Amino acid sequence: MNKKRDNLIAGNWKMNGSLKQNSSLITDIKRTEGLDKGISELLVCPPDPYLSQARSLLSDVNIHLGAQNVSKEVNSGAFTGEVSAKMLQDLDCSYCIIGHSERRAYHNESDDIITEKFFRLLENKITPILCVGESLEAREFGNYDDFVLSQLERVSNKIGIDKFLNTVIAYEPIWAIGTGVSASSEQAQEMHLLLRSFFSDSIIADSIRIIYGGSVKPSNSKELFSMPDIDGALIGGASLNSKDFLNIYKSSF
Ligand code: PGA
Repeated sequence: MNKKRDNLIAGNWKMNGSLKQNSSLITDIKRTEGLDKGISELLVCPPDPYLSQARSLLSDVNIHLGAQNVSKEVNSGAFTGEVSAKMLQDLDCSYCIIGHSERRAYHNESDDIITEKFFRLLENKITPILCVGESLEAREFGNYDDFVLSQLERVSNKIGIDKFLNTVIAYEPIWAIGTGVSASSEQAQEMHLLLRSFFSDSIIADSIRIIYGGSVKPSNSKELFSMPDIDGALIGGASLNSKDFLNIYKSSF
């Protein structure tokens, strides 16, 4: 595959796992071929209590560690239950997911909160994976492109376009998440191109990785990755099965 950017294959474990399950999942993932060649980047995002375990298990391989969420608050303080970007940096997290539709829907995360989280991550040299994606209603109504662009715009208006250099956007149509119904490669490519075109500065547009999420499986990943503006995937369900996750990874190069 001849793209300007290396693919990023990211596993979003969501609220799943146990010490035992994580250990066997990571042990299996570590056996894969191609990791030492760094052909595509591989990333796992376990729940916070298991970051430390995952960090130890991954210490001798070329697999990145990421978090699924971060506090909008700075460094440390009286914020019960929160985990700061500085703490994630301490644990060697190189990426963090923000703005996932499940957090927007179940935790009322607004674009303002997401923007602050974006800032905190950049301050701590962690790459944000900013999730955007339209609802089923917007898809059916036909205004899905405005829906997604305005999500991106509300963050970029506050943070400044230049801050997006080398960051990651995950296009995740809500109707495709956990449903088994993925966007087609053409539907995804259309949206990825739209998102990339939003960045008129060609250096940013060329650097930014736009990954697709929503029912990615070994049976659809190769076709998705063959699209010129799809730079990898954010994988939920299939990332909990080492065979599926690795087959998706292998289909990315
Ligand atoms: P899914 O989830 O792969 O299970 O559809 C993707 C995500 O929510 O990031």
